[in-house]
Amino acid sequence: MATTVALTGMTGFIGRHIADNLLARGFSVRALTRSEPKTSVKNLTWIPGDLDQPESLSELVYGAESVVHCAGQVRGRSAAIFTHCNVTGSLQLLQAAKKSGHIKRFLFMSSLAARHPDLSWYAHSKYVAEQQLAAHAAGISLGIFRPTAVYGPGDKELKPLFTWLLRGVLPQMGAPTARLSFIHVSDLAQAVGQWLIAEPQPTFPYELCDGVTRGYSWQRLQQMGEEVRNGTVRLIPVPLPVLKLLADISLLSSRLTGKEPMLTRSKIQELTHPDWSASHLCLSRDIHWRPVISLIHALREGLF
Ligand SMILES: NC(=O)c1ccc[n+]([C@@H]2O[C@H](COP(=O)([O-])OP(=O)(O)OC[C@H]3O[C@@H](n4cnc5c(N)ncnc54)[C@H](OP(=O)(O)O)[C@@H]3O)[C@@H](O)[C@H]2O)c1
Repeated sequence: MATTVALTGMTGFIGRHIADNLLARGFSVRALTRSEPKTSVKNLTWIPGDLDQPESLSELVYGAESVVHCAGQVRGRSAAIFTHCNVTGSLQLLQAAKKSGHIKRFLFMSSLAARHPDLSWYAHSKYVAEQQLAAHAAGISLGIFRPTAVYGPGDKELKPLFTWLLRGVLPQMGAPTARLSFIHVSDLAQAVGQWLIAEPQPTFPYELCDGVTRGYSWQRLQQMGEEVRNGTVRLIPVPLPVLKLLADISLLSSRLTGKEPMLTRSKIQELTHPDWSASHLCLSRDIHWRPVISLIHALREGLF
């Protein structure tokens, strides 16, 4: 029987797809929002507020049986910014869930980056959040998803890379031997919906990717680009000093605009890590889900 899910992050890229999936499955969704709600859909209730506001969080989880916590800080100029949202905010939400007395399941959208907490502020904050949630979840079945890089409709971070690829230019960040992995957002959203109805499992940091064993090399991405555009793709290595310079420019412009930067020196360490290959097999085994969208198909179809 479908029930009510409290969802955070629905105003963002991944959260919107998760909401669509849950609503299509017949769940009712209560979604936290920091801005004026733009959509009005049957079975969707917007709850104004922020992860910082305990009253809003109590209202968010009211009447729900499950929480899907997808809100997260993905850009930032300091470790404190990531910790504030990803660690403190997540714990506040767990507190509200526990206080309600009726939340049975809590899914935390972590990141594959949490596999290497020393690489970046973001990675560290996700790892610490996982640990803290696991330490305090008592009585609630906690799920941890560690998706790799997610792409699809509404994505702003990977889109430029794929757009350049299909124009014939692929900027290579990191070593030529690096391994990368990806997942289409609809496969991720499907996994979330499936986790909610599957038999509860002991807490485990599940990796999610498109199922390509050992992921992709830069050269493989170049080949795929060539296959899809039916023309050459130039693979252009971006030297580390250039990346650092770009990060410094991004930080400077973020100070002027007041917006948090995506590219920082901290983020570069994450982006240039040599192995971001992943395996979906543990999650597939436990919840009977498997990714169905391959990157080459998505590139051919304009990423949908
Ligand atoms: N995109 C990826 O490749 C990827 C990969 C692995 C994991 N993830 C994780 O997936 C989640 C969603 O990522 P995304 O790519 O969809 O990011 P996004 O588009 O930036 O969305 C982030 C969402 O979190 C909300 N949010 C941020 N801080 C909040 C706060 N203090 N209180 C309430 N809501 C807050 C945002 O609300 P506003 O709209 O009000 O800003 C937005 O809805 C994140 O936890 C991220 O770490 C993403």
